[in-house]
Amino acid sequence: MRILVTGGAGFIGANYIYYLKKQHPEDRIICLDKLTYAGNLSTLEPVMHDGNFRFSRTDICDREGVFRLFEEERPDVVVNFAAESHVDRSIESPGIFLQTNIIGTSVLMDASRKYGVSRFHQVSTDEVYGDLPLDRPDLLFTEETPLHTSSPYSSSKAAADLLAMSYWRTYGLPVTVSRCSNNYGPYQFPEKLIPLMIINALSDKPLPVYGQGINVRDWLYVEDHCRAIDLVVRQGTPGEVYNIGGHNEMRNIDIVKMICREVGKPESLITFVTDRKGHDMRYAIDPAKIHAALGWLPETKFEDGLRKTVRWYLDNRAWWETIVSGEYREYYEKMYHNR
Ligand code: NAD
Ligand code: DAU
Repeated sequence: MRILVTGGAGFIGANYIYYLKKQHPEDRIICLDKLTYAGNLSTLEPVMHDGNFRFSRTDICDREGVFRLFEEERPDVVVNFAAESHVDRSIESPGIFLQTNIIGTSVLMDASRKYGVSRFHQVSTDEVYGDLPLDRPDLLFTEETPLHTSSPYSSSKAAADLLAMSYWRTYGLPVTVSRCSNNYGPYQFPEKLIPLMIINALSDKPLPVYGQGINVRDWLYVEDHCRAIDLVVRQGTPGEVYNIGGHNEMRNIDIVKMICREVGKPESLITFVTDRKGHDMRYAIDPAKIHAALGWLPETKFEDGLRKTVRWYLDNRAWWETIVSGEYREYYEKMYHNR
């Protein structure tokens, strides 16, 4: 199979490429990535020179560039990870989120139509469902939950989901969509909660918890997400949406305390800072459909996944030290100074 992976120099896309390399070494992988601040070629260094792998620095909004790559590679399958992915950045600058996440997805689907792919898979998020109240633990997001977004990021992802389903109904493009909860694991960009807290703790810096730290997320180890996507791509039904999540709800403050224990730093590093605007309270996925249809279940327990993740950041200091010493410093200053 010839698989075009967009956004493969980012966190989940890169983990997916490594998953494919391990599980399906016969596949040809073409990675298309613009290399924004979140894309990192050093992440792909071990596969860069493999015969069955090609990297193309292309913007998914660049229609000509995207069509040229399709013409050259004729992919069977497209898995679209490419996106602006950070909620806080979307609150500061929504425009690029609309451009990449909506227009970029439409360009990829136009090329997929023209070149007749057998599957276009859109990697989406549980944030399209909005949030759930803290006092109703019985409520979970199912695939039938109405879309009800909170941030420019989640709104752009919801728009892309709707567009993808419209390409299925209108043009018969064989689309699947997966909506996943919060991922963690190796190669996650330091702006996100878990790597930010690990890196700050290792550097004895304050650990900035938004609001009271009582917001709840449903955490999934990235490799479990990659396995789910692979199942949906190979065995899922076109026109269907699949929720992916771990029944692993945790409050932010409890995660940060676990990280302190794991890296051997005091909880006195924790500082409560001004809350995120429009901050979603709780996400919780019901993964019953993907379990029943494709037999998928998460395999990594949170304690084990977090330990592996902390180990990875300890063993790969050069990877994140290069990032945090670059333009990330300005970002951090802007978002967290006097917050
Ligand atoms: P990320 O920010 O780490 O990586 C995004 C990648 O996309 C980067 O390599 C970046 O260079 C690339 N990219 C951005 N704009 C591009 C463009 N215009 N053209 C080509 N490439 C571009 O993101 P991530 O956390 O790996 O998320 C991947 C996907 O999964 C996103 O679609 C996100 O919405 C979705 N998702 C993420 C999570 C999570 O917890 N991280 C959970 C559910 C869904
Ligand atoms: O649910 C899936 C989504 O998970 C994905 O679609 C997004 O791409 C991904 O970024 C993630 O979104 P969140 O906003 O949930 O993730 P983030 O790591 O930014 O924040 C997790 C929680 O931690 C959230 O409640 C905000 C809080 N937080 C975050 C940061 C960066 C803090 O308290 N302090 C921080 O410094």
